[in-house]
Amino acid sequence: MYNTCLKIPDMFQTSGPNHDFFAHRCVWVNGPVIVGAGPSGLAVGAGLKRQGVPFVILERANCIASLWQNRTYDRLKLHLPKQFCQLPDFPFPEEFPEYPTKYQFISYLASYAKHFDINPHFNEIVQSAKYDETFGLWRVKTISTSSSDIPIEVEYICKWLVVATGENAEKVLPEFEGLQDFGGHVMHACDYKSGESYHGKRVLVVGCGNSGMEVSLDLSNHNACPSMVVRSSVHVLPREVLGRSTFELAVTMMKWLPLWMVDKVLLLLSRLILGNVEKYGLKRPCLGPLQLKNTHGKTPVLDIGALEKIRSGKIKVVPGIKRFSSGKVELVNSEILEIDSVILATGYRSNVPSWLKENEFFAEDGIPKNPFPNGWKGNAGLYAVGFTRRGLSGASLDAMSVALDIAKIWKEETKQKKKTVAARHRRCISHF
Ligand SMILES: Cc1cc2nc3c(=O)[nH]c(=O)nc-3n(C[C@H](O)[C@H](O)[C@H](O)COP(=O)(O)OP(=O)(O)OC[C@H]3O[C@@H](n4cnc5c(N)ncnc54)[C@H](O)[C@@H]3O)c2cc1C
Ligand SMILES: NC(=O)c1ccc[n+]([C@@H]2O[C@H](COP(=O)([O-])OP(=O)(O)OC[C@H]3O[C@@H](n4cnc5c(N)ncnc54)[C@H](OP(=O)(O)O)[C@@H]3O)[C@@H](O)[C@H]2O)c1
Repeated sequence: MYNTCLKIPDMFQTSGPNHDFFAHRCVWVNGPVIVGAGPSGLAVGAGLKRQGVPFVILERANCIASLWQNRTYDRLKLHLPKQFCQLPDFPFPEEFPEYPTKYQFISYLASYAKHFDINPHFNEIVQSAKYDETFGLWRVKTISTSSSDIPIEVEYICKWLVVATGENAEKVLPEFEGLQDFGGHVMHACDYKSGESYHGKRVLVVGCGNSGMEVSLDLSNHNACPSMVVRSSVHVLPREVLGRSTFELAVTMMKWLPLWMVDKVLLLLSRLILGNVEKYGLKRPCLGPLQLKNTHGKTPVLDIGALEKIRSGKIKVVPGIKRFSSGKVELVNSEILEIDSVILATGYRSNVPSWLKENEFFAEDGIPKNPFPNGWKGNAGLYAVGFTRRGLSGASLDAMSVALDIAKIWKEETKQKKKTVAARHRRCISHF
């Protein structure tokens, strides 16, 4: 109804190496184009629906929330209480537990999309997006494989572009000397589902963020023998303090105390509850957990059982990697371990620099240059949602700001357009 499919006008003709291979289509969107149908993209869509603003969501996968559906392990649960993870205007069902499972979260997101009647264009990868100064419009090029066997190149033309591709769009795969000679199975944590097939296997888990800790815990629960690489330092905090979520406690304290003091309290409580974790090889960073999160984006680990396994020796903590060789890894302390498999829990990164032709608003790492709460609006109708390093609660805040801002401008422009059309109409009539 709102978006028009056009023959490509000359001024917007595409060019490039694949120009002759793909069929072409050009679409004018009377509203924003949102890239990504994860929680952030859906939340912006919901906000726009409520305001009556038309939009298009482009999603490279064949489903909503593809990170949650396709790239997470089976045992995953939300690590913050549900009230901090719900999207705007749609609470979690009451019967959901305080920490919903990933399956519950996915079903919540499906209900969210259904409730707000959000229908993304699936199987459509955004290849590039560029602002056309001459026309004051964004040109968003995609490759779509949704409607036929032949990939179709589609160009969307719009006034507003919302980037919602996430902080975790691509896996980080560091290079290691000798890994090609290792010979065993190597995978990234995003492809790990469960420890079921690892019974009795010696597994090297590289990385000690929330993924590394939970994959190690899962492997140990399935009677595998995980060794977890901690190359630098990590803040491990209890998920709860006296039955109350540590996150909630931190949020409450931050209303009254400066950040550094909240950090001190968190570390003191962690010491009382978890003991001295450094004696197990989990060296604490110099900066406090919240300060580290704010300055370097490094998330503290919320312990849900891995620490107990480390204490009991069922998860072995080892230092950084020097090199791999056939069936073995040599560590920086010269220890050599015989291993069967490697799981790289080495994190994720944004993919924005690979497709957005812009370098004022986004930094080289694909995260907006302005930190929270000022990183959601750029120039020329460019917006970002879900890059606050504050998980789902940060994404919800961004989404509300973006939807309101676009709706305000869209409504003014629509009113203005209607006035102009009416005036033209009056002029035409008066000529007769
Ligand atoms: C294992 C894991 C567990 C997590 N657990 C929590 C948690 O408990 N609580 C919390 O708050 N946060 C958690 N997070 C962080 C989590 O990523 C976010 O909170 C949430 O998924 C962010 O939503 P998003 O929509 O911004 O990004 P995403 O969920 O990553 O969605 C982005 C979407 O954009 C699509 N996309 C990317 N590039 C393109 C392109 N070029 N063209 C078209 N589409 C594209 C992707 O396919 C994806 O569907 C977790 C992250 C991981 C990796
Ligand atoms: N709901 C949940 O419970 C849950 C579960 C999993 C993930 N998450 C979230 O998902 C996001 C990503 O978490 P993540 O754990 O996948 O990634 P991450 O927090 O970025 O951790 C990556 C880990 O890999 C290590 N690493 C990277 N390169 C390495 C190398 N060459 N050698 C050795 N170690 C290396 C890092 O060490 P350095 O610190 O030394 O760089 C770090 O320990 C976070 O926001 C996290 O909170 C949430």
